[in-house]
Amino acid sequence: MHKQSLIAGVGLGLRSQHYSHILSEKPAVPWFEALVDNYMGAGGAPLQHLNQIRQDYPMTFHAVGMSLGSSEPLDKNYFKKLKTLQHRFEPAWVSDHLSWSKIHGQVANDLLPMPYTEESIQHLANRIDQAQELLGQRLVIENVSSYLNYQVDAMSEWAFLVEVVERADCLILLDINNVYVSAINHGFDPIPYLEAIPTERVVEMHLAGYEEAGEILFDTHGQPVHPPVWDLYETALKRFGNVPTLIEWDSDIPAFAVLAQEARIAESYQQELSYAQTA
Ligand SMILES: [Fe+2]
Repeated sequence: MHKQSLIAGVGLGLRSQHYSHILSEKPAVPWFEALVDNYMGAGGAPLQHLNQIRQDYPMTFHAVGMSLGSSEPLDKNYFKKLKTLQHRFEPAWVSDHLSWSKIHGQVANDLLPMPYTEESIQHLANRIDQAQELLGQRLVIENVSSYLNYQVDAMSEWAFLVEVVERADCLILLDINNVYVSAINHGFDPIPYLEAIPTERVVEMHLAGYEEAGEILFDTHGQPVHPPVWDLYETALKRFGNVPTLIEWDSDIPAFAVLAQEARIAESYQQELSYAQTA
């Protein structure tokens, strides 16, 4: 069986707080997504845990360090470490973000959005191309949430995303929470965004919680998924089908049972769609 076809249903982001629970209880989770940057400098225990968990579960890799949008050359050392882990753990795919985070050797804590221009489309397509070459497989690219626009923006976020993935011939990780957060922060309707995305390229969706700060939403990934994001997820499932979906929780990590409950809700949306399609 092809390793990509092993990823189905609703998976969970793998967090170190849950290693022992997963290893002792072997919960019924269809797949885990590992934040691969956490294992790059790691030896010993974290890699051992990852190894043990990988023996029982299919896995994907999620990266935050490629900085695909930056203007400095791709960090070959980073890709070397990534490739070593890729060979060892054989994730179904590797994803990173449509963003930049490095400038003049400085690394920002945020995944910053790109200016939506022809120049940055070409720049990103070339960089994704190089990354795909280095990894020997198609990359999966995630939309980020944003709180700012550039004066030079010449198109919508979704037109930009579609053009980049078509030119680079890569795949999409559609973060439904990020679409919603950006829609509220910039005052656009998220439905045309979903309708613009080519269905055949979407291999994964993310769901997470945001926080409200006045009129701005921040995707802090430290809360349950909010009702309007569930609504948007339902709309997305109708368009894209039951795409593998991940519950992302990165701060204030709760007990494993809380993540499992969020996954059950997402599963119920997927099952509802399956019933509707077979009825
Ligand atoms: Fe995400």
